[in-house]
Amino acid sequence: MKTSEIRNQFFDFFTDKGHTYVRSAPLVPKDDPTLLFINAGMNQFKNIFLEKEKPKHLRVVNSQKCIRVSGKHNDLEEVGIDTFHHTFFEMLGNWSFGDYYKAEAIQWAWELFTEVWGLEKDRLWATVYKDDDEADELWKKVTNIAPDRVLRFGKKDNFWEMGDTGPCGPCSEIHYYVGENPSKQSADGINSSDQYWELWNLVFIQNNRLPDGTLEELPKKHVDTGAGLERIAAVLQGKTSNYDTDLFQSIIKVQEKKLGVKYKDDLVGHRAIADHVRMLSFSIADGVLPSNEGRGYVARRILRRAARFGHCMGREEPFLSSLVGTVVELMSEEFPELVEKQTHIEKVIEAEEIGFSETLDRGLEQFGNIVNDLSGKTISGKEAFKLYDTFGFPVDLTVQMAREKGLSVDIEGFDKAMGEQRTKARSEGKFNLDVSHKEWTTITKGDDSEFLGYNDLSSESTIRRYHCTNGTVLMILDQTPFYGEQGGQVGDTGSLTGDGFTIRVTNTVIDGDSHIHVGEYAEGDSINGETVTAQVDNVRRENIKKNHTATHLLHKALKKVLGDHVQQAGSLVHPDYLRFDLTHYQKITPEELRKIEAIINSEILKNTVLDIS
Ligand code: SER
Repeated sequence: MKTSEIRNQFFDFFTDKGHTYVRSAPLVPKDDPTLLFINAGMNQFKNIFLEKEKPKHLRVVNSQKCIRVSGKHNDLEEVGIDTFHHTFFEMLGNWSFGDYYKAEAIQWAWELFTEVWGLEKDRLWATVYKDDDEADELWKKVTNIAPDRVLRFGKKDNFWEMGDTGPCGPCSEIHYYVGENPSKQSADGINSSDQYWELWNLVFIQNNRLPDGTLEELPKKHVDTGAGLERIAAVLQGKTSNYDTDLFQSIIKVQEKKLGVKYKDDLVGHRAIADHVRMLSFSIADGVLPSNEGRGYVARRILRRAARFGHCMGREEPFLSSLVGTVVELMSEEFPELVEKQTHIEKVIEAEEIGFSETLDRGLEQFGNIVNDLSGKTISGKEAFKLYDTFGFPVDLTVQMAREKGLSVDIEGFDKAMGEQRTKARSEGKFNLDVSHKEWTTITKGDDSEFLGYNDLSSESTIRRYHCTNGTVLMILDQTPFYGEQGGQVGDTGSLTGDGFTIRVTNTVIDGDSHIHVGEYAEGDSINGETVTAQVDNVRRENIKKNHTATHLLHKALKKVLGDHVQQAGSLVHPDYLRFDLTHYQKITPEELRKIEAIINSEILKNTVLDIS
């Protein structure tokens, strides 16, 4: 039976029991800052459990796309090495929102496994939470499992939590013995030997973990079950590795051709690549782009890990994007977003792989040198950091390569080197006049720097304080029309004229909430009196305004022509020009540039009144 049929049978079984089918939520969580990627079916239902949202249906069935490479559930190190961990996988689930509870969840799981799918009950084991007498008794009452096949485990195995906070509860797992000799089974193997696979987790959601670590009771009790489709497919297809199912073999066959290496000759490499290309296809389809932080960095790490496995098989050219078509073919019946985004996924992967291939060779050479010169068994944090910083090797890639050579990496040292670099970058990026440590001469006291510049370009202002050194004058006023440099827009210039002096303001910067006018004397050589007339150079400000608006027009036009994925990565708004950094997977073509230009020019010609409210 093909995996797609297994998935459909799961849906059919539960729709017959009154469940409504719902689609998988996207992999990128909506409004949940506690989570990088959706890592369990329950993420999209969290607010229902917390009673913040009413469920549309009390019983639901679905297959949720999950990624587990960060946070509480992180399986990356195992991926490729063993036969059943994945970065991306599908979690089949049936759900009760305050409707049925433990008895039905247990009974139906057993019925589906043993009666519909015909799994041998003498290979199945059930576990329950150590204090959950109810679940323990129910197993013996509503199923025909042998009583000595129901085991109790502690919090680590049988109390399920999504993350550090959120809905959670005791759970009951179903494990399956995949070994060759059923008479060799023993309770000791559950949760310890890889001959026993956890196939299904029935979670009885009844608590909420609060940020201070305490548990509160939820007003209602819910059922959240999760069954890894890839593992179930392996068992039902009589395989002892998920990678031997149709889901993976179809991809691996293409890999064998492209890479010229048989699966049996590089099990780990082939598995990792097939796994990673699925993760990349799905995450990119849901809007992730490889980058240096957050989700984007997870995608980048996975891609580089896969590219390096290909490289080890002797592949010099980028190849990952050519596998996407097979993933789309296999999975798009359930996940049509893949077809829609196929070209986009291929382009993103290709561009990223090309980028990495430029440093991969040199990085591998550097790694070789490090290993040759190594006296102990640990690669220092500094060396690992150099590989990261200069050659783009994510640290887990270095760890993986070290592991292959029986070595380890000093992760603490790596984190330290990374921290030092961040601090350095921060201090270099900061305004180079260290205004906060100046000794100021105070003229008047009170709040300062009320910003008038949205409406006025000049003002009568009171001097709060100033500082002069080597001809440079810094001055802070009670109110000012001068815009301080921030958000990529340059500061205003102009003049401050007081009793017997004029300061030519060459820049305005912000420190805390204060606008600091930076300039030099154009007339006079000392500050007299308490007030000045502050005048912004209005021609220059007009030009800055135009370029500011043009930045918005450009951003919009870029999205229109290149796609919604385009994000602003930085910008500079200057009176004479603007610069806009963006995220896109390839060089913009002359044709695209012409289109972008045409859109912006036609908007400018419309001369629409700006609504800045
Ligand atoms: N939330 C549970 C898990 O992820 C069951 O769906 O294992």
